[in-house]
Amino acid sequence: MPDSKQLLADQLRDDPRVKQAEELLLAALADIQAKVAGPRSATTELETTYQSQLDRLAEARGGKPYFRYLASGVGRGPWVELADGSIKLDFISGIGVHGLGHSHPRLLQAGLMAALEDTVMQGNLQQHRPSLEICERLLELAGQQGAALQHCLLSTSGAMANENALKIAFHNRAPADRVIALDNCFAGRTIAMAQLTDRPQYRTGLPTALAVDYIPSSDPDHSLASQERSLAALDKHLKRHPGKYAALWLELVAGEGGYYPGSTEYFTKLIERAKQDNVLIIFDEVQTFGRLSQPFAFQHFELDALADLVTIGKITQLCATLYRDELQPKGPLLSRRLRQPAVPSQRPW
Ligand SMILES: Cc1ncc(COP(=O)(O)O)c(C=O)c1O
Repeated sequence: MPDSKQLLADQLRDDPRVKQAEELLLAALADIQAKVAGPRSATTELETTYQSQLDRLAEARGGKPYFRYLASGVGRGPWVELADGSIKLDFISGIGVHGLGHSHPRLLQAGLMAALEDTVMQGNLQQHRPSLEICERLLELAGQQGAALQHCLLSTSGAMANENALKIAFHNRAPADRVIALDNCFAGRTIAMAQLTDRPQYRTGLPTALAVDYIPSSDPDHSLASQERSLAALDKHLKRHPGKYAALWLELVAGEGGYYPGSTEYFTKLIERAKQDNVLIIFDEVQTFGRLSQPFAFQHFELDALADLVTIGKITQLCATLYRDELQPKGPLLSRRLRQPAVPSQRPW
């Protein structure tokens, strides 16, 4: 067996020309970023082209984007150059996707290393060493305050990470077929996630893929009253459909139309009540991961012991579903081989 440095892939990474190319790219980026020093108006000559690019984008995508934003491909931290030559502060931050800042040198380095892989996209059937590295890193981060999340499944969108979490929850709590979520939540745009998302217009014409009941979210201005209101609503649902709920779906800081955090006490009360009825707890951290005082929002709110399934995305530039070992599916739900049952010993003693 070759040791790792004998692998051709490692020889490629260690090739002095690769190191030199990386240094040259970083130096070129630094020179360009030095020119991103503050706001700049659009360039008159680029404005017409910019408008036509936006129009073509609207045509290609079948509708105008929410914002007149077409990035040039360069920025510095919160500053971004748009394709009309203007430099603006990015207050939207791709709702987390641009959380590392624009044109971060580490992102360029990571992108370069990704480009050196034999393939960039990883199919579910064949994985590469960075998949192993990221899964283990995420699990280590998730467990640093004691959460028992032993498995990590990578995916390419937050909605897919959420779908996987929901599949694992339903599979483990069958025949339960309902979910409880907070008012105003957003979970993605697949058919199931459109159902979970508390926006009737986002599911116009779609079949009912999922039975979801909602409880009021936390109101920080009336914390005690809102806690009691949410708990009472949860209790009512659980009693109305006994044994029918697979999961309580929680976004610890709701990210639609502003940022609305709950509190440790608020969440703990809800979760404890749900767990009395064997309901699994899913933290949708697609927006919150990497944006509070700790990597995970459940760590920020000290809910580590209560996490059953957690999804992340956006700032990580890839998405993942983390879950407890006892929730391992017993059917081929997730494009992996099933764990083999222990073979009984053949030995005569
Ligand atoms: C809380 C939350 N969950 C899930 C999603 C879906 O993620 P994606 O757009 O990557 O599918 C979003 C997207 O905005 C989100 O804010």
